[in-house]
Amino acid sequence: MSNTKTPQPNTPQDEVYLPSAEIIAQANVPNPEAARKEASDNLEAYWARRANELEWYKKWDTVLDDSNKPFYQWYVGGKTNIVLNALDRHVKTWRRNKLALIWEGEKGDVRTFSYHALNREVCKFANVLKSMGVSKGDRVTIYMPRIPETVIAMLATAKIGAVHSVVYGGFSVEALHGRIEDSESKVIITADGGNMNGKKIELKKIVDEALQRTAAPENVVVVKHLGSDVTMEAGRDYWYHELMNLPLTRNGLRCETEVMDAEDPLFILYTSGTTGKPKAILHTHGGYSVGIHATLKDVFDLKEEDRWWCTADPGWITGHSYIVYAPLIAGATSFMYEGAPTFPYPDRWWTMIEKYGITVFYSTPTAIRGLMRFGPSWPNRHDLSSLRLLGSVGEPINPEAWRWFHKNIGKEKCPIMDTWWQTETGMFMLSPMPVMKLKPGSATKPLPGIEADVVNEEGISVADGEEGFLVLKNPWPAMMRTIFKDPERYVSTYWTKFPNMYFVGDSARRDKDGYFWIIGRVDDVIKVSGYRLGTAEIESAFVSHQSVAEAAVIGLPHELKGVAIHAYVILKSGHEGNEQLVEDLRKHIAHELGPIAKPEKIEFVKVLPKTRSGKIMRRVLKARAQGMSEGDISTLEE
Ligand code: WT7
Repeated sequence: MSNTKTPQPNTPQDEVYLPSAEIIAQANVPNPEAARKEASDNLEAYWARRANELEWYKKWDTVLDDSNKPFYQWYVGGKTNIVLNALDRHVKTWRRNKLALIWEGEKGDVRTFSYHALNREVCKFANVLKSMGVSKGDRVTIYMPRIPETVIAMLATAKIGAVHSVVYGGFSVEALHGRIEDSESKVIITADGGNMNGKKIELKKIVDEALQRTAAPENVVVVKHLGSDVTMEAGRDYWYHELMNLPLTRNGLRCETEVMDAEDPLFILYTSGTTGKPKAILHTHGGYSVGIHATLKDVFDLKEEDRWWCTADPGWITGHSYIVYAPLIAGATSFMYEGAPTFPYPDRWWTMIEKYGITVFYSTPTAIRGLMRFGPSWPNRHDLSSLRLLGSVGEPINPEAWRWFHKNIGKEKCPIMDTWWQTETGMFMLSPMPVMKLKPGSATKPLPGIEADVVNEEGISVADGEEGFLVLKNPWPAMMRTIFKDPERYVSTYWTKFPNMYFVGDSARRDKDGYFWIIGRVDDVIKVSGYRLGTAEIESAFVSHQSVAEAAVIGLPHELKGVAIHAYVILKSGHEGNEQLVEDLRKHIAHELGPIAKPEKIEFVKVLPKTRSGKIMRRVLKARAQGMSEGDISTLEE
């Protein structure tokens, strides 16, 4: 019944957990090594087989076109639309009566959508977008709380062939402004606000402020969720519920899904990079559909009768791939929750697992560490026996949190799938499959068709156990295609450091079993509580404060958040660095970027360590803060 644990491990690498006979008996992939071999023997045949699990308007001529590396193309000549597989094919079957989405608001309100109902709302809203002049290729910004309309808006945009750009609802004015402007969105879809931890987050107010800084999009659609007061600008802003009831859409319960080329863009999603402004990662209809479907099915063993819960926000890639698209493509029932895990008590999540009979639960190390603090009595007062599999994503999971999750939530019978991947990869890359042996803290091995390695500065594989750069050595269908409007940056960021290898930006080790252990970012990306932020974006938010001349931020280890932001600030003359200013700056950052970017610590300094060319040496700041040797600082000017 339960997983067996090898006795008395000496090192974390030796602590292994084996799956139960039940887990093995029902696995979608009974033999991962055979699947890996199938894919490495013939990569194109493997991905053709996986693509054949989906419906196509027209099948592809070429599985993989690598004639213009690194601009790989997949399923060239194929015709599809992700909505064909996410909705259209299900409403033709008995699944039209199956629940696609169960939603609970933070206040306890519940809404459910069958596939039929979800499709109806998507068709109606697709017609609304069309009536606003949105057509194939146009960008639509979606800035929403975690509510069903977020899912409807994404699917409606995709259905008509437009490109969505979802901006996480926890981001604030400047982060939103930059993303609206760069995407040149025609329409913004938002809500009056959302509930988070007992507070109202007033999103429409943030939209209004962001739009004062930019050439306004033509229209703003506002979902009434809180019922709070908002300003509606005549001729620009429209209520969602009013648009959905216009006579023009009454007839509009039907909407043809736009036939797209496999390589047509589906969405852009901004993510923080090493330098400058966030990058708009571009994903497509065909390859993305295939990749996310294959990986969800293989890793989480999804079954028709499952109730799947991914706790992420649709505003991040995890939500795009594994709340919205892959579960729907699989015809699964997905659960979505609006609010905070600790509201009103620290057992909110466990209450809902019991209430809805969740079978597969996918969350994050930060959340687990946060809930761990309240002790096992909170999960223990609930019946969590519906759970079959657990998952983790976003940052390395420390073995203590892994063991707590395994014991107190999974009751030692649910394997934990530690999935390593990125906004750029679109789908899981390194991950266990349920039948595999697990080691707490390791994302185990590359999935079938993925070739990963750990290399040194010269791009040469390092020995087992040694730290190096994680790289990916062959293309995969859900890979990003480019950076929207900036193909050179796509090449220079990901494909230039090592020839013919995709540069991930993480460091890792591989052990003697071929298991990968992710260590952390090697660039200026900071993963605060698993959320991805860039030093450049935070520094420029600092400098936009009237008292700041210059700023440098680094990430330092933090017990709960994994990594926390520390800032070093040079003030303009005439300003005094006191407690009050620290508070003001923290507020300013939260207002510009969002509360997740609030620095843990702000220190006022007179100079910053720089190279001769004027680049801030964050490495030196980091070493100093951690009391380590500062390494080679001979290029320091000051
Ligand atoms: C970075 C990507 C795609 C999921 C959400 C994050 C880190 C992600 C793991 C994991 C260790 C992980 C890496 C990666 N990361 N999953 N299982 N173990 N680290 O997507 O915001 O694009 O961030 O998250 O550093 O490069 P993202």
